[in-house]
Amino acid sequence: MSTQNISTIIVTGGAGYIGSHTIIELLQQTSYNIVSIDNFSNSNKDTFDRIKAITGKNIVNYNVDICHLEALEKTISQIENPIGIIHFAAFKSVPQSVAEPLLYYHNNLGSLINILKICQKFHISHFIFSSSCSVYGNVEKLPVTEQTPFSNAESPYAQTKQMGEEIVTNFAKSQSGFNSVLLRYFNPVGAHPSGLNGEYPRSKPDNLVPYITQTAIGILQKLTVFGGDYDTRDGSCIRDYIHVSDIADAHVKALNYLIDHKQKKSTSIFNLGTGNGVSVLEAVHSFEKVTQQKLNYEVGPRRAGDVINIYANNDLVKKELNWDPKYDLDEMMLSAWKWQLNLANEKNS
Ligand code: NAD
Ligand code: WQD
Repeated sequence: MSTQNISTIIVTGGAGYIGSHTIIELLQQTSYNIVSIDNFSNSNKDTFDRIKAITGKNIVNYNVDICHLEALEKTISQIENPIGIIHFAAFKSVPQSVAEPLLYYHNNLGSLINILKICQKFHISHFIFSSSCSVYGNVEKLPVTEQTPFSNAESPYAQTKQMGEEIVTNFAKSQSGFNSVLLRYFNPVGAHPSGLNGEYPRSKPDNLVPYITQTAIGILQKLTVFGGDYDTRDGSCIRDYIHVSDIADAHVKALNYLIDHKQKKSTSIFNLGTGNGVSVLEAVHSFEKVTQQKLNYEVGPRRAGDVINIYANNDLVKKELNWDPKYDLDEMMLSAWKWQLNLANEKNS
């Protein structure tokens, strides 16, 4: 089969949680050649077997540290007709970034600058950047729109996303023909509905949903709900949980938006959330309902640095990208549980 003239989309961080779900959607919804660049610093090679089990397709991954420009250039020069990059690769632990800020500045900003140099050198015109609702910091007015001004970043991690957005925006302004989308994810959770691919935390998770599923399966003993005395409807913090496959689908739509030249400026920014604020206790009760499991949890002290309440206004992304999140909270919880059960079965077999 000739691959002549085929256009390639490069996914950095394709072995990771959101990158792998996005590759699945790209393979199922588009006819582009998809390649990944991932050095497995926070992921496993098995991910590509999981993608194959779901899509029937093999993915070529280049095991390269994107912070190494020379190795990266050599890799890109082997890729046929690259027309777009979806840049997921970054470190993402908020507490680790507080303990090791230089690691985060180096990896998250160094890799971003290198990947933009690659766009320049290889004339790659379409670029999507993984940003985060953490860029907003503590906000006064809810829900958050794309126009809500940034407050101080609460962590070096969040600062790399604020700076990353500026780097991409300024680069895009300086390059004629280059266009970009910044996607601000709220709280991505859940797993592929098949239960065959999901988040694979390397150590004890900090995030709520893997903490819930690992408690329910007995890896962890008990979930502590961080704070029950906030000024919210049940006293626990409120977030905008969004299914990872909905996030993945938004990347396909953003890519088509760029390639079809529907964008009027060099950079667009979109919030990716459902628009629904959900409390920690509501998330726990949804999990209990859909899995018929009684979760061992207690309401404990507040966690330092937690935002009390944040959720998205998603009007812009719905209108511009024609994106509508499909999955509700119960489906997010059920898919996360299916994935946890699948992992347990794999370990036992
Ligand atoms: P992840 O850790 O599962 O995936 C990131 C992938 O990038 C990993 O597979 C890792 O091995 C790879 N990587 C990291 N640095 C690299 C480097 N220098 N060279 C090559 N590969 C490298 O994380 P994720 O949850 O899939 O997040 C993807 C992106 O989305 C990140 O930029 C993250 O900051 C952002 N984001 C994530 C969340 C979330 O809650 N998961 C929320 C908002 C934004
Ligand atoms: C959610 C809620 C906790 C664990 C972080 C990053 C953000 C983004 C997503 C990357 C909070 C509560 C949690 C537990 C609990 N990542 N909780 N017990 O802090 O909203 O956001 O991940 O960009 O940038 O900051 O997510 O999943 O840690 O917490 O009660 O054991 O669950 O207090 O209210 P968070 P989270």
